[in-house]
Amino acid sequence: MPVHEIRHPLVRHKLGLMRRADISTKSFRELASEIACLLTYEATQDLETEADTVHGWAGPVTVERIKGKMITLVPILRAGIGMLDGVLELIPGAKVSVVGLQRDEITHQPSAYYNKIVGGMHERTALILDPMLATGGSLVACCDMLKTAGCKRIKGLFLVAAPEGLAVMNARHPDVDLYVASIDERLNDDAYILPGLGDAGDKIFGTR
Ligand code: URA
Repeated sequence: MPVHEIRHPLVRHKLGLMRRADISTKSFRELASEIACLLTYEATQDLETEADTVHGWAGPVTVERIKGKMITLVPILRAGIGMLDGVLELIPGAKVSVVGLQRDEITHQPSAYYNKIVGGMHERTALILDPMLATGGSLVACCDMLKTAGCKRIKGLFLVAAPEGLAVMNARHPDVDLYVASIDERLNDDAYILPGLGDAGDKIFGTR
């Protein structure tokens, strides 16, 4: 499974700011969005284009445009919403498929409590958005749902990933490309990533 750790200096700098314990909600939110934008640039490098002819200032000119149906963005509730605006900066026309997953108290398996996936999924590339790839449980469940809906091309954008979650994805969905700002050290006993960012949802929504 291709995992792309984006080592761009801007990404490293912004993620470093996000790790500060005293960061404000405003700054955390802005930085999550900015890194999401930079990850999008990397994750869309292989989109196919096709030739088109437009009327330019000096007559007809051949240009390129993205081929086929547009991407669908798939923020996983709730923290994935914090990356949405940054991705929409670059792909303003993208359709958004929202997925809500929660962990069953008994089985510990994620189950969907909300799911609104756009049509034409067999023709779209899905970009899953979630700040933290921890155990990989939610991501596996989200990929299962997208594939059931007909999606053939899935990529995931994350601020921080744990090696444990990457191993789970490699076993369950090795065809999914992952773009992450950092692969961190490990999970703690509560399945938080170390050194990580803490609870990304709480920090984005100001509920900590
Ligand atoms: N979710 C978070 O918000 N943080 C983690 O470290 C792991 C999962």
